[in-house]
Amino acid sequence: MSALFRRSANRTFRYVLAAVALAAAGGLTGLLVYQRVPFGTRQLEEVAQPVQFDHRHHVVDDAIDCRYCHQGAERGASAGIPSTALCMNCHAQVWNKSPRLEPVRASYFTGRPIDWVRVHQLPDFVYFNHSIHVHKGIGCETCHGRVDRMPAIHQEAPLTMGWCLSCHRDPAPNLRPPEAITAMGWVPDKDPVLLGQELMKKYDVHTRVSCTTCHR
Ligand code: HEC
Ligand code: HEC
Ligand code: HEC
Ligand code: HEC
Ligand code: HEC
Repeated sequence: MSALFRRSANRTFRYVLAAVALAAAGGLTGLLVYQRVPFGTRQLEEVAQPVQFDHRHHVVDDAIDCRYCHQGAERGASAGIPSTALCMNCHAQVWNKSPRLEPVRASYFTGRPIDWVRVHQLPDFVYFNHSIHVHKGIGCETCHGRVDRMPAIHQEAPLTMGWCLSCHRDPAPNLRPPEAITAMGWVPDKDPVLLGQELMKKYDVHTRVSCTTCHR
């Protein structure tokens, strides 16, 4: 046997074992970190869309309420993306020669919807509902950030379980009066702590941390 394995092979083998163990641990840590850093959660990533739709023009310059285009946010589970017909309510007249709106006109005349790319996407095993949040006083800005300043929409919040839970444990500081739900850059006009307590009562808000709230 001594001819087959030299003495030093023992040591080499241990080094190899140690290296493999380290690599595995490193890989695992890497994955765990990856899941929680902006790159892994897809936060702040700009997404190329088939039409360069700019929220800044529409929300700020034209002062269109979010719910005009995302009606589902108040009524249902998903906020929804507006149909081409809704764009054409304005763009049949406004900017109706703009080359940037060519795909919108093409979609309208062929009846083929625009292939908007999804920016926010929870895994299938998570249940989420917009309308309950909107009716209990959580503003769009709290979860989506300053959409009125985004040339292209990106995901502002991590959308991790820890993020959801941090608010579900203590919603009070995140509550707004109904008229401020779609406002951007809103600041409370009175003591935020008092306002939070007041709105907790008014909307009858509960803390929701049981697993079946979001996993059903
Ligand atoms: C004139 C219509 C219009 C208005 C007004 C509007 N949006 Fe949008 N929104 C769109 C369209 C079209 C898309 C899909 C293209 C994109 O992602 O940019 C979109 C996408 C989004 C997305 C990303 C959806 C995804 O794929 O995950 C969010 C979040 C969003 N809007 C929030 C808002 C908020 C908040 C407001 C109000 C401050 C608002 N929008 C006002 C038309 C509108
Ligand atoms: C409590 C956090 C929260 C609030 C408040 C909230 N959203 Fe969302 N929004 C999300 C999450 C999470 C998703 C991804 C949902 C999924 O993948 O099922 C999402 C997705 C969207 C989308 C993509 C289409 C869809 O519904 O899946 C749009 C558009 C949108 N939100 C607009 C809005 C608007 C407009 C408001 C305010 C009226 C709003 N959101 C309020 C968390 C929120
Ligand atoms: C309530 C009216 C209204 C609606 C609805 C509307 N827009 Fe607009 N849009 C405008 C106006 C006004 C402008 C002019 C730009 C500005 O305000 O600076 C504009 C500008 C644009 C531009 C830039 C054109 C250029 O040449 O720079 C694009 C692209 C666009 N809109 C896409 C859309 C899409 C896609 C939808 C549907 C999801 C939509 N708009 C819905 C009013 C509207
Ligand atoms: C900024 C605060 C906030 C964030 C972030 C948030 N929520 Fe909520 N959520 C609430 C409030 C407030 C309620 C209403 C609680 C009540 O019933 O009084 C609620 C209710 C819900 C409900 C309905 C519970 C029921 O029993 O009817 C679901 C489901 C839910 N949230 C899922 C989520 C998920 C999933 C996320 C993360 C992707 C999330 N929420 C992020 C504040 C938040
Ligand atoms: C307020 C909503 C909410 C509640 C309550 C909640 N979860 Fe989650 N959970 C999420 C979201 C969102 C994700 C997906 C994002 C992520 O992995 O962080 C998730 C992911 C998970 C995953 C997959 C983890 C992974 O890394 O892929 C497991 C397992 C899980 N939840 C178990 C639980 C258990 C057990 C409870 C109760 C103690 C619970 N959750 C309560 C929202 C919630």
